[in-house]
Amino acid sequence: MFAGENSSSLPEAKVLAEITDPLQVEFRNVTKLYGAVAAVKDLSLGVHQGEFLTILGPSGSGKTTALMLLAGFVGPSSGDIRISGKSVASVPSYHRDQGIVFQSYALFPHLSVHRNLEFPLEMRGMKAGERSTRVARMLERVHLKEFGDRMPSQLSGGQQQRVALARALIADSPILLLDEPLGALDRNLREQMQGEIKSLHREFGKTTICVTHDQEEALTLSDRIVVMRAGQIEQIDAPEALYDRPTTRFVASFLGEANFLTDREFKIEPNACPAGTIPMIRPERVRITPLTSRLQSDTDERQFISGAVVSMIYAGPLRKYEVRVGSSVLIVREHVAAGQQTFGPGDIVQLELLRSDIRFVAN
Ligand SMILES: Nc1ncnc2c1ncn2[C@@H]1O[C@H](COP(=O)(O)OP(=O)(O)OP(=O)(O)O)[C@@H](O)[C@H]1O
Ligand SMILES: [Mg+2]
Repeated sequence: MFAGENSSSLPEAKVLAEITDPLQVEFRNVTKLYGAVAAVKDLSLGVHQGEFLTILGPSGSGKTTALMLLAGFVGPSSGDIRISGKSVASVPSYHRDQGIVFQSYALFPHLSVHRNLEFPLEMRGMKAGERSTRVARMLERVHLKEFGDRMPSQLSGGQQQRVALARALIADSPILLLDEPLGALDRNLREQMQGEIKSLHREFGKTTICVTHDQEEALTLSDRIVVMRAGQIEQIDAPEALYDRPTTRFVASFLGEANFLTDREFKIEPNACPAGTIPMIRPERVRITPLTSRLQSDTDERQFISGAVVSMIYAGPLRKYEVRVGSSVLIVREHVAAGQQTFGPGDIVQLELLRSDIRFVAN
């Protein structure tokens, strides 16, 4: 029964919502100082049970530090971290019950694949027979059944990555922490492993916190994304919302490509632009057509601008144009359809912008 369906069931529905959607991890005003540098600054963040949350940000923005604070490898300078509602301030890392894949996936080089997976189970005092069964099952799950006796150095990067994931999953901890889990892999393998991580998440339903600086990976994997900048949260949202409605210039440029419409040629009325913001449009939202005799007239919904094509690049199913408008260069992306006109450098074109596609982001 859904909340609100029947007024007498409301309290019950509320209890249900609390059970199914509790916060498993909570940062409360957490700061981590290294000397004078705040690697993480007054971070407050809740992660729901079963959620896949990605921390995205440029190098040095505090992503690994946030994860290491949660794992208990470093302690906060101030603030509190809670797991399942309880402060873990005095809980050492080995008692925090989390599976971890480190930035450099850190397999034990002197142990076979089988022993690498067995190690966390042994630490928990599991009997040898059960350990072997579990390891065999997990190796099969990550498609490495035949590789148990190999040493890590005898595996490819992708295989090592899968061992690292398997080792993080095997102890059946409720929380999984991944630090750049696919950083060392080439593009194809990375995409394949993204699928693998997604399907493991569906299957095991663990609360997963994943750190990356790869925006595509973040968009593909996550329920929510936290964008970090200089130790602080810049924005937190579902992938689509973050891409479609970035609140700051930093988020707009970090997640995908953004055109900032600051040139007068774009005809943005000053009073349409809230104080402290600049107008922005995504490249795939701009329509490019031939400019025949003259520009179409603007309407309430649309505006038309002329520009000169600077370059055109084929990118698989997409064309990417750079178009000069006044003193700016606008990026336009379009899907290639059969029989569609292509423009080349020097062509004068008409650009069509839907006013509702223009976002105003904090500068
Ligand atoms: N042990 C340390 N001692 C001193 N400064 C540190 C230490 N660890 C991290 N820092 C600093 O804290 C800041 C955040 O580092 P962190 O490793 O969290 O960044 P990151 O977002 O994970 O970066 P990357 O994408 O490069 O892995 C950086 O300025 C870094 O130099
Ligand atoms: Mg890092």
